[in-house]
Amino acid sequence: MSLRHLLSHRVSLAMQAAGIPAECQPHVAPSKNANFGDYQANGAMGAAKAMKSNPRAIAQSIIEHLDLEGIAHKIEIAGPGFINIHLEPQWLGAQTVALTPSLGAIAANSEKTIVVDYSAPNLAKEMHVGHLRSSIIGDAVVQTLEYLGYKVIRQNHVGDWGTQFGMLLAHLQSQMAKGENPTLALKDLEVFYQQAKVRFDQEPEFANTAREYVVKLQGGDAKILELWRQFREISLTHSQDIYQKLNVSLTADDVRGESAYNDDLAVLVKGLQEQKLAVTDNGAQVVFLPELANKDGEPSPVIIQKADGGYLYATTDLAALRYRVNTLKADRILYFIDARQSLHMQQVFIVAQKAGFVDEHISLEHHSFGTMMGKDGKPFKTRTGGTVKLASLLDEACERALTTVKAKNPDLDAQTLQNIANKVGIGAVKYADLCKTRTNDYIFNWDSMLSFEGNTGPYLQYAYTRIRSILRKANIEKNIEASQLNNTIHIKADQEKALALKLLQFNDCVEQVAAEALPHLLCTYLYDLASLFMTFYEACPILKDGVSEEDKLSRLSLSLKVSEVLEAGLGLLGIDVMEQM
Ligand code: ARG
Repeated sequence: MSLRHLLSHRVSLAMQAAGIPAECQPHVAPSKNANFGDYQANGAMGAAKAMKSNPRAIAQSIIEHLDLEGIAHKIEIAGPGFINIHLEPQWLGAQTVALTPSLGAIAANSEKTIVVDYSAPNLAKEMHVGHLRSSIIGDAVVQTLEYLGYKVIRQNHVGDWGTQFGMLLAHLQSQMAKGENPTLALKDLEVFYQQAKVRFDQEPEFANTAREYVVKLQGGDAKILELWRQFREISLTHSQDIYQKLNVSLTADDVRGESAYNDDLAVLVKGLQEQKLAVTDNGAQVVFLPELANKDGEPSPVIIQKADGGYLYATTDLAALRYRVNTLKADRILYFIDARQSLHMQQVFIVAQKAGFVDEHISLEHHSFGTMMGKDGKPFKTRTGGTVKLASLLDEACERALTTVKAKNPDLDAQTLQNIANKVGIGAVKYADLCKTRTNDYIFNWDSMLSFEGNTGPYLQYAYTRIRSILRKANIEKNIEASQLNNTIHIKADQEKALALKLLQFNDCVEQVAAEALPHLLCTYLYDLASLFMTFYEACPILKDGVSEEDKLSRLSLSLKVSEVLEAGLGLLGIDVMEQM
């Protein structure tokens, strides 16, 4: 159980015993200032309001019933009725020893199924920076949910259907007819797409074939379907390469693209018509939503079938949602998609609710994020104004990291350097994105993300390696074995206490990340933890002569815990640590 949960629970019991109504919350949180104890319970004010009574008197009666024997050595009332809790150092030490960050959840959440929709590139094109945020933010949340023991089902809702495939397949067909191998032809999807587009715009005959292929594809023509399957496979391999480079946990099994819902679209539209939700408007099938009316009171139109019979992005999303509820049995569905698709998601959610696809227990959540900007404050582009391919961006990250890492360790061999650089480069790109509040746009800047100072990936990886090197040194120079550590942690200095308290807040932080899908909270936590470690290390020598055996072991154990939490926390963000860098 986390520190905050434990204290909240005890305060709640005391409130009950004091006769306070059950709906009054204990409001337990870490104190902002050490003078006010380690934790504060601020529930007395609310309770006093509800009971029309004096808050200090209520606080007093809560304290009288509060059992924190062995946990707190001082409990006092401050100001209008704050309860300040000063924790027992010995207890804190024991709790810290018991912390096992590598294990994940003790609480069983496995009865809850959470479906997470993320990454979802369009297979017609190369993955570009626009997919970076969804992939890494979504994956950090997925890892966190799994860590907490939830049953998580990843859904990579790739764009693998639509009219643009007509043009692409026609081009692929003609390349293959010339003897070109499909994998080679599709080596660079971006170039391939552009070639097909030029032909489509300039060659009337090609454009006709392309249109014909769309009809054939939709009609289930075996030859064209086979061609489509080939294209899709090759494009998916490109995405899979990127996931691997990025250390994102998506696999081929998580792909369930738009095409998977084809057979359900007609059924879905018919159902919405029967429910009188969809109506014919200019030949199209439209659901009008007064819930999202504009300022003139006109309802928001959601087109689910065009006049020519074609289905839309919203139709597929509705079918996907229904599948996730009925077949995957989701209790919560999270979507990690660009903020520009907010209206689309709202529309889908409202139609689904009105149509009865979901009941009120199922939580539908669009977790949006801002755009990645260049240094000039405009959306991130190549020098010539093109979209930046994710693959080249990641290569550049590793190259730049190699230069920095090499400068720090000129003696390491090339292979080791490259391995470190890959982890540092990818970690830097991911961390720079994850550490910002996701709803904001953010500025992509190589120099700041690769810096070893400040709230960056390399800083945290470096903090980890520093602790590991202290532990190695203890072993080599002082003959202290790992098995000797972690038995007792004595909390004496203020810096030790601050560090232990922070360590014990790891679980609270992880739970908050999972509840709100906000990985930046974990970044801030890890950065604070690393900074507190540095302060502790300056104030509390470990391996210096003159340090008592007891202090040495205790401080080494505390350091070991910090390294474990850093490793586990960065692991949840999909960032690797290493022994040296
Ligand atoms: N393929 C879409 C795009 O690249 C994103 C899909 C997001 N997921 C969803 N269920 N709509 O913009």
